[in-house]
Amino acid sequence: MRTIGVLTSGGDAPGMNAAIRAVVRTGIANGLRVMGIQRGYSGLMNGEIFEMTRSSVSDIIQRGGTILKSARSAEFRTPEGRKKAYNVLKVFGIEGLVVIGGDGSFTGAKLLSDEWDIKTVGIPGTIDNDLAYTDYTIGFDTAVNTVLDAINKLRDTSTSHERVSVVEVMGRHCGDIALYAGLAGGAESIIIPEEDYNFDELCKTIIEGKVKGKLHNLILLAEGIGGAEELAKKIEEVTGIESRATVLGHIQRGGSPTAFDRILASRLGARAVELLLEGKSKRVVGIRDNKIVDFDITEALEMEKRRDDHRKLYELSKILGY
Ligand code: F6P
Repeated sequence: MRTIGVLTSGGDAPGMNAAIRAVVRTGIANGLRVMGIQRGYSGLMNGEIFEMTRSSVSDIIQRGGTILKSARSAEFRTPEGRKKAYNVLKVFGIEGLVVIGGDGSFTGAKLLSDEWDIKTVGIPGTIDNDLAYTDYTIGFDTAVNTVLDAINKLRDTSTSHERVSVVEVMGRHCGDIALYAGLAGGAESIIIPEEDYNFDELCKTIIEGKVKGKLHNLILLAEGIGGAEELAKKIEEVTGIESRATVLGHIQRGGSPTAFDRILASRLGARAVELLLEGKSKRVVGIRDNKIVDFDITEALEMEKRRDDHRKLYELSKILGY
């Protein structure tokens, strides 16, 4: 292996730059040429490729977003699109490809390696933490801290007005951002797709809280359930307590990555390059019990989340937040 490429694909996540930096510098330290591919698979098909040096990744470890830019490509989902991508990789002499992204990006990498002679390794970069094979994805910790900052502010105003505050956070079908931010922020209730919730019970908790002298009520709602405005309205109707909804949106995707995300990205980036140097392909890297691990892409995508730990956190949040 002499030349590798690196791209970021799907929704951006804080820490992607730290991962790019680790890939580039580990590659160069091992005698590889490292090519940066812009705009994900779409840029790959268009040949938006340039050689990266140690200095092209200077001063980026602290930056959110991705210097390589990101995109979602419908064309790459077709066999013709992947053939085009392979032809470009061949022209540039790229034998191994590091893909930083989520499950859709990994599926693309797998198909590319299934159909063509190109080695691929995936690095989990998404704020959603929705990849079961790894305890954490790059960007999740930063997103949780961004939500936490917002919750702290919302708590101030909710307390002053003795209101219910419904905060909707990202995560697609995964409730991890809501769960972790809710637990860290002392939310009274957390509503996530992985756990059943009962509207009457929720209202009962809010009313009981008011009777006990609670000055605010913070409800963390995952986007996989959604409907923050309607929920706040219904709560106000049933409980008689003023309620407001806040949908945090894309603010959760930006910002300087936390130390945790930077370190995770650095470790995973380095390991991804090592795997290519070992001649491996169709692998994804991750972290389990604080150890860097790697799995076959297909196996990783089919894994189920380790629900026990998750359930314990949810139960804990109910005891502590009530
Ligand atoms: O996957 C990251 C994510 O931010 C999800 O949490 C959210 O559902 C989605 O991307 C939003 O996508 P877009 O940026 O295309 O609106």
